[in-house]
Amino acid sequence: MKIFVYDGGGAAVQLIEPASKTLMQAIRDAGLSIAAQCGGGASCATCHVYVDDAWRAKLRPADDTESAMLDFAEARRESSRLSCQIELSEELDGLTVTLAPGAAF
Ligand code: FES
Repeated sequence: MKIFVYDGGGAAVQLIEPASKTLMQAIRDAGLSIAAQCGGGASCATCHVYVDDAWRAKLRPADDTESAMLDFAEARRESSRLSCQIELSEELDGLTVTLAPGAAF
């Protein structure tokens, strides 16, 4: 599977066959700059990404915990998600996201 990750400047990195369980881990394993300060516990909002519109409906909706934490994220949008809460599966082949301000360090 492939995942496309854009940084805030519009540069894209392609993650190919990530072995990670979550999107945050895949981004981190690829060596990209993502803060993810709480390590995936949905308690910091520094793994914030914007999900491409074509993919938003294919993701499990954010639960109450994720949604509440996103209220603390910088520049929240309709497409905002915590990448540590997105579990990767073959159905997400082609997933496209952009790192949000405050996620990169
Ligand atoms: S890594 Fe902290 S909320 Fe995702």
